[in-house]
Order: sequence, then C-alpha cells, then structure tokens
Amino acid sequence: MFNLILFGPPGSGKGTQSEKLIARYGLKHLSTGDLLRAEIANKTPLGLEAKSLMDKGQLVPDEVVIGMIDAALTNNPKARGFLFDGFPRTKAQSEALDALLKKKGASINVVLALDVTEDELIKRLLNRGLTSGRSDDTKEDVIRARITEYHNKTSPVADHYNKFGKVVLVKGEGSVDEIFGDLTAQIDQRIDQ
Ligand code: AP5
Ligand code: MG
Repeated sequence: MFNLILFGPPGSGKGTQSEKLIARYGLKHLSTGDLLRAEIANKTPLGLEAKSLMDKGQLVPDEVVIGMIDAALTNNPKARGFLFDGFPRTKAQSEALDALLKKKGASINVVLALDVTEDELIKRLLNRGLTSGRSDDTKEDVIRARITEYHNKTSPVADHYNKFGKVVLVKGEGSVDEIFGDLTAQIDQRIDQ
C-alpha cells in the first residue's frame, strides 16, 4: 500500500491537488471535510451536529472523524492506498490513524505539506466563498478562526510525523500544474512504479 497525507492550512490547495493526484496514482481520496459536507447535505444527525461547529470554523470532535476514516478503510479493502486530505487534524487523530493502518500492516509513507502565506489563504477562500456555497468561506472572521484552529491543533500533526522523518514541505503558491509537478516528484521517489 501507499498512503499519503496531503497536509496544509485551509485554502492551501489540498482538494485541488488531491483530484489530480488520485487520477495519476489510483489512490482512494479520503477528505473528512467532503465526508462531513455529505452528512450535512443528507441532513443526518451527525451532519447537523457537525454543521454548527464547521460554520464557526471549529474542528468537529476527534471521535466523529476517526469513526468516518475507520469505516472508509474497512469499506475499501482492495485500495492501492489512500490519500488523506484534511485528516488527521489533531495529534489524537494522527495516533488513531497510525493504529488503524497498523492493523492493515500499513503506515503513512509520506506527508506532503503545502506551504502558503496567510494573506494568500484568506484571499483564495474569500474568493471561493463568492461561488462555492460553503458557509465557512464567506466571513473573514470564520476563515481566520479556521486558520487559528490549524495553528493551535493541527500543526502538532506535522511535528508528530516529523519525528519519523516523513514530512516534506512543498511550495503551495504558483500555478496548480507547477505545484502538482513538485508533489509528483516527491511521490515518484517513494511509490512502486
Ligand atoms: P475542510 O473541508 O478540510 O476544509 P479546509 O481544511 O478548511 O480546507 P479547504 O477545503 O477550504 O482548502 P483546501 O486546502 O482543500 O484548498 P482547495 O483546493 O479547496 O474542512 C472544513 C471543516 O470541516 C473544518 O473547518 C472542520 O470544522 C471540519 N473538519 C474537516 N476535517 C476535520 C477533521 N479531520 N477533524 C475535525 N474537523 C474536521 O483550494 C482553495 C481555493 O484556492 C479554491 O478556490 C481553489 O480553486 C484555489 N486554489 C487552489 N490552488 C491554487 C493555486 N495554486 N493558486 C491559486 N488558487 C488556488
Ligand atoms: Mg478541501
């Protein structure tokens, strides 16, 4: 298996690059943000609970997203590997993910971390908010709250994988194709062709 975490703050391009990477490498895309928005669209109890936190720019509880990832791993036993996008987002989530993968005899191969300045993140997200319908993209204070959550709770995930030498910083500004080229160069060094 080949398991990749695409890491980075809100608006760094994780979703954009994930679409291209799964097409190139045949990995299963697991975005907890997308899974949560599907729950909201289906008006499930879980979705209703998550929506109020997401609308404030706050993380949903660890056990909710860990349960979603556990189910997705179980439901895709034949996957070549997984691309994790927006997960793990806390140290507890990264430890839970490591344990779930270990049960499959697998681990995280690499963490590719997209590096984008805060001004650029805010500009991209406000711009997307004009058309996306994502309620967490329209207000600058909510976008700033998401970035604060990232600094306080999510950056320890990079520290966790750095201890194992698994984190590679990739420039996240420039054209989508340039960034894709830098990401694929890192993956090609590590994946069985
Ligand atoms: P989530 O859906 O994961 O959102 P996010 O991390 O805030 O990130 P985004 O999806 O907004 O950005 P992205 O990095 O994917 O960038 P994108 O490619 O879209 O999470 C939403 C919420 O769900 C969280 O706040 C939390 O409440 C909850 N949640 C989710 N996972 C959770 C977890 N594990 N634990 C707890 N809670 C969780 O690009 C952004 C914009 O920039 C787009 O408009 C795009 O077109 C544009 N763009 C992309 N690349 C470029 C480029 N190179 N140049 C210019 N523009 C670009
Ligand atoms: Mg995304």
